Amino acid sequence: MTTAPATPATATATTPAPTVTVTKLGGRLGAVIEGVRLSGDLAPETVAAVRAALLTHKVVFFRGQDHLDTDSHEAFGRLLGTPVAHPTVPSADGRYSFPINSDYGGRANQWHSDVTFVPAYPAFSILRATKIPPYGGNTLWANTATAYENLPAPLQELATSLRAVHSNDYDYAALRPDAIPEQLQRFRDVFAKIKFLTEHPVVRVHPETGERTLLLGNFVQKISGLTGRDSRDLLELFQRHIERPENTVRWQWQVGDVAIWDNRATQHYGVDDSDDHERKLARVTIDGDVPVGVDGRTSTLLSPDSVPEPEHGIASGASTAATGTPTSVVA
Ligand SMILES: [Fe+2]
Repeated sequence: MTTAPATPATATATTPAPTVTVTKLGGRLGAVIEGVRLSGDLAPETVAAVRAALLTHKVVFFRGQDHLDTDSHEAFGRLLGTPVAHPTVPSADGRYSFPINSDYGGRANQWHSDVTFVPAYPAFSILRATKIPPYGGNTLWANTATAYENLPAPLQELATSLRAVHSNDYDYAALRPDAIPEQLQRFRDVFAKIKFLTEHPVVRVHPETGERTLLLGNFVQKISGLTGRDSRDLLELFQRHIERPENTVRWQWQVGDVAIWDNRATQHYGVDDSDDHERKLARVTIDGDVPVGVDGRTSTLLSPDSVPEPEHGIASGASTAATGTPTSVVA
């Protein structure tokens, strides 16, 4: 394991902040942050150090955050931006915390970025582990910025010229042949109740770092303007570069762990290898902005006419602002 330069929080005369250490986990992405007890009351310097590490390393991990509950998880989320509700799945208690439970069919064993079927899909996801199986159930993340950066130049050029249609109405039954009828019913009646179609650029300019990232994953239906095998083959070609083992990091969960990822620069995959053991996590997502392609064109919602208001709060993807100019650049 390589140790990255620590990012100490700046102490002030009245509120000395603890030392924040950032330790790199993989060559392309991932870092463990120590010296932070997550809450809604963190010093601004600590929040800035976490955010900087998140933008640099794409996914950051914290051990031992067992003190967090739904309230403090959400309160911490507010330090990174505005929590948003899932566009179709209402939370059980009217809060922003979204359950990722194995018994709800929540085994996300497909590479994806969260909620890309709406234009302004979440910028960050904050996932907290509350029940972990005795084995398996790891999550993998892939860096979509290095995936683009390492493409041969002709493929970079091709990718930047393409747009792709994302939808939540994918073939659930084909992807989960062992799903029980209740899971299929829940998918149709809740997750895909409103059928979203959104066209995104295949290469997005990251609004905070200026990096170019590949915007693909499980919610992609097709490359715009292509059909059938041409579309599938091109998607497979680019996705293969994202999923290369060298381009990923893998996390073995413990109860009390928190992972935060930059959903604009990563895909993730929940490994479904813990048999029938229960696995429970809670996710808070933070509002993103409308993606902008290299040519300046923004993502567009094709259907429905607008993102409907959820039963509670602000819908993920409801933002209409697009940020084409990066506010900062990380190496
Ligand atoms: Fe996910």
